[in-house]
Amino acid sequence: MKEIKIFAPATVANISCGFDVLGMCLDTIGDEMIIRKTSKKGVLISKIVGQVLPLDITKNVAGVAALTLLKNIETPFGFDIEIHKNIKPGSGIGSSAASAAGAVFGINKLLGEPFSLQELIPFAMEGEKLVSGVAHADNVAPALLGDFTLIRSYKPLDIIKITAPKELYATVIHPQIEIKTSDARNLVKQTVSLNKTIAQMGNIGGFISGLYTENYDLIGRSLHDEIAEPYRATLIPAFENLKIVAKKAGALGSGISGSGPSVFALSKGKETAIAVKNAFATIYKNKSIDFEIHVSKINSEGIKIIR
Ligand code: HSE
Repeated sequence: MKEIKIFAPATVANISCGFDVLGMCLDTIGDEMIIRKTSKKGVLISKIVGQVLPLDITKNVAGVAALTLLKNIETPFGFDIEIHKNIKPGSGIGSSAASAAGAVFGINKLLGEPFSLQELIPFAMEGEKLVSGVAHADNVAPALLGDFTLIRSYKPLDIIKITAPKELYATVIHPQIEIKTSDARNLVKQTVSLNKTIAQMGNIGGFISGLYTENYDLIGRSLHDEIAEPYRATLIPAFENLKIVAKKAGALGSGISGSGPSVFALSKGKETAIAVKNAFATIYKNKSIDFEIHVSKINSEGIKIIR
């Protein structure tokens, strides 16, 4: 194999109750990447379509992730990366993660898969570190593994993939503003009170239990965040209104997608997810806020080969 074309999906990190530890993979939005073997050693980003992003491999998340992988294996050739960027940077749905995870996934395939998907995660995390200052895994893990992922531990890295309940759908609205993850992280407090910690632990336990038992009501009840949402909510236009209409339209719950500004809702069934989409859209149309909106099943596969 000399060339591979892949679909690198968008992801929702945190999912309210799991700051830095929970993520899920979407299937209707994502980047496309073409990765080619080259006779010249090293990594080259030859083309980026759709967004203005650095071609310099040390300043691009895909380049940094690829270089990290190549530091861990000897190869007689190099790699050329072409990125067709559909996920806007600063949208809160894992734009950098898709590029970083896509690069290491593609290179690994062209090398004959010397690394498992789990082993690729730390390489992709280095890309995340470049843009957010922190090597968080809650977007790259679901992008690589699919479904829901729980980071049980960062040191050592211990990541668990959890199958999504069959009827679970996400609605994601992206107001057309950009929030840098690094800025949004600065808003989150470094210490959390005991009361908040107790609430957060209860909810993440409930959420995981809800996934395993396909208990949609429990999933909904657990969608609550004490750690990031209270400080980040003001960055997102009409956030409280979105939450209210999502519930009214039948969503199980909603919250900030990653570090925002996208807002996600989870619903049981596609019909409800579409009703939430219409409700979200009405709020932003009435306020003349530009937006993009998606309804997506949870993607069980993660990154996939198109060609
Ligand atoms: N857990 C990260 C954060 C996700 O909230 O900062 C960023 O997409």
